[in-house]
Amino acid sequence: MKNNIGISEIKLTENEIDAAVRVLRSGALRQGKECDAFEREFAEKTGAKFAVSSANGSAALHLAYMAILQPGDEVLVPSFTFIATGSMVTMAGGKPVLCDIDPDTFLLDLKDAERRLTPKTRAIAPVHLFGNSCDVEALGNFARRHGLAIVWDAAQAHGAQFEGRDIGSFGDFVCYSFYPSKNMFVGEGGMTCTDNPEYDHKMRSLRSHGQTGKYYHTIMGLNYRMTDVEAAIGREQLKRLDDMLAVRRGNAAILNDGLSGVLGIRPQAVTAHSLHAWHQYCIVVDPEEFGLDRDGLAQRLMAQGIATGVHYPRGLHQQPVFEQLYGKTSLPVTENLAEKILALPVHHGLTPDEAAAIVAAIRGCRV
Ligand SMILES: Cc1ncc(COP(=O)(O)O)c(C=O)c1O
Repeated sequence: MKNNIGISEIKLTENEIDAAVRVLRSGALRQGKECDAFEREFAEKTGAKFAVSSANGSAALHLAYMAILQPGDEVLVPSFTFIATGSMVTMAGGKPVLCDIDPDTFLLDLKDAERRLTPKTRAIAPVHLFGNSCDVEALGNFARRHGLAIVWDAAQAHGAQFEGRDIGSFGDFVCYSFYPSKNMFVGEGGMTCTDNPEYDHKMRSLRSHGQTGKYYHTIMGLNYRMTDVEAAIGREQLKRLDDMLAVRRGNAAILNDGLSGVLGIRPQAVTAHSLHAWHQYCIVVDPEEFGLDRDGLAQRLMAQGIATGVHYPRGLHQQPVFEQLYGKTSLPVTENLAEKILALPVHHGLTPDEAAAIVAAIRGCRV
């Protein structure tokens, strides 16, 4: 086994590099024709009506929240996620109301979210965590019943599907990141899909200082534009997204087969009627049943050249910044998962033999 198989050796292809160089040589570095084309092609790929490119995935979320929130509006956010799902609500003038998660799928627990509804709740922000699609139907019904907008955080879920449909085609806002570790990676970049022409229009203005005409500003905005260099890479990469996902899915199947039945190891449960995009392959390590705790297993794997990760070591409600802003609270499922979760390599640079070797290494660690 080559050393450090967990560290993804994700590189751009020659075609992607050529596309970037073509833009560099043209001198047209800012947001322009390549961004327009990337937006069109991304919308076509996901089945969304519109796609708005931006500087990164956090900006994609911020634009969505800014498009709908009034000061003090509350947004239901799962606590087990990356900081930006919650912090961008605060940055848009709202308040993230942190909710617990389902222990099997690791996704927002709707029952817990329902208990946290108030007259100020304006939106819900489910996260397709690690590429596992949320139950889009249940969330859609919930949002309709309570008059909420949905801001889907799909930063980790390019190519995930629910009931045979790409998750980018569902609704109000679907926010993606193209950070280098993601299923699509252009450097820094983001995209917000929407079916709503007003949201599309508003986000385009917000990402360019609220400009609606040349040097004419009607709302408060930011500079959140993507550049044409990144868009050119993204356009080229979109062509191989399905192939990269197929490798991830193949690797996940090997891990699933090999790890099912290993006492003390429980992989993330895939949502019913969905197709996982396997940005991360995460397991829960039960120290009593496995004989080693999460950190012990990670160390043993590292010693064999298998790098793992902990996403995430604490919930957002345990982050000092949120504790200071909103006070301390307890979300037991999130806290328990944060202690036991471990991400194994699954990326598209991993070979099937390496995936099988990971299974063998984990089986060999059990005491
Ligand atoms: C769930 C989630 N949301 C939002 C983001 C923010 O994306 P970016 O890093 O491109 O700003 C990330 C990226 O790590 C993420 O994983």
